[in-house]
Amino acid sequence: MINDSRFAFYDLAPGEENFRDAVLCGLDRARKAIPCKFFYDTRGSWLFEEICRLPEYYPTRTEIAILKEYSGDIAARIGPHGRLIEFGSGASQKVRILLRALDRPAAYVPVDISREHLRSAATGLAEDFPSVPVIAVCADYTRPFALPPLPGARGKRVGFFPGSTIGNFEPDAAVAFLANYANVLGPGGEMLIGVDLKKDPEILEAAYNDRAGVTAAFNLNLLERINRELDGDLDIDRFEHVAFYNPAEGRVEIYIRSQAEQFAQIAGKRFRFADGELIHTEYSYKYAAAEFRALAAHAGFRPVDTWTDAGELFSVHYFRLR
Ligand code: AVJ
Repeated sequence: MINDSRFAFYDLAPGEENFRDAVLCGLDRARKAIPCKFFYDTRGSWLFEEICRLPEYYPTRTEIAILKEYSGDIAARIGPHGRLIEFGSGASQKVRILLRALDRPAAYVPVDISREHLRSAATGLAEDFPSVPVIAVCADYTRPFALPPLPGARGKRVGFFPGSTIGNFEPDAAVAFLANYANVLGPGGEMLIGVDLKKDPEILEAAYNDRAGVTAAFNLNLLERINRELDGDLDIDRFEHVAFYNPAEGRVEIYIRSQAEQFAQIAGKRFRFADGELIHTEYSYKYAAAEFRALAAHAGFRPVDTWTDAGELFSVHYFRLR
């Protein structure tokens, strides 16, 4: 642990996510599936950053525009000496918009499972914001954990969860995730969260089927990762990316489809893929603003504010714990 008054790094030693077990188990099921968290190896993280710059992928740029436009209102909500706690902080880019607007923020607490990525992002942020103490926590934020002591007891503890990552969880799991976040924040905690809105399915389907094929490459990178890391011999050219909006469930569903009957070896085991068989890789739930406020209420969060863009593409909610 590095520790001075402006930068601390707490390593809660999260268990290594086991890609091998998840793949062998997920491909053995009647309905094949691989969890979306495995998208983000080095190449996958790079492809995701490319997605964020695509003309069809509106969420990132829209959320950034909302945060910029309403940063004054958000800073007023948070008040002086706020402590921002971000789960899945990644490159810690969006939080910079808030830190520039906040009144004497007392701490920024990035929490991420990816140790080296966290270390470099947190160090870079500490250098760019010398007056903001940075307390990085390497932890699996989907599980309960205790925050280290934070400076500035006068200010609010405010969770920051941008990017509509909440949309990856099925609604019950989203409530459980928010309840865990509430526990980590503790009584009096508040929360700023970005959530993609329901909208014209054509806009949604274009965002997940971009013309340049970056989303397809991002999805199929899971198969490349299997070949690289698990000694697989999948014929990636005979699989394709599938993404569509399911209006009954309010979610974009993403799959990899086998274009023929085929067999593959993965980590010494043999798998069969039927012609047309789907491997589920991701859900991306979309919520009308009122719908998301109702979901958050199940985890104890009371609505305070909702900000959206003029096109009603994306929402940023502010909640307070009951
Ligand atoms: C990072 C989960 C918000 O659901 O839009 C983008 C991931 N997948 N394109 C999303 C994603 C395909 C993204 N989230």
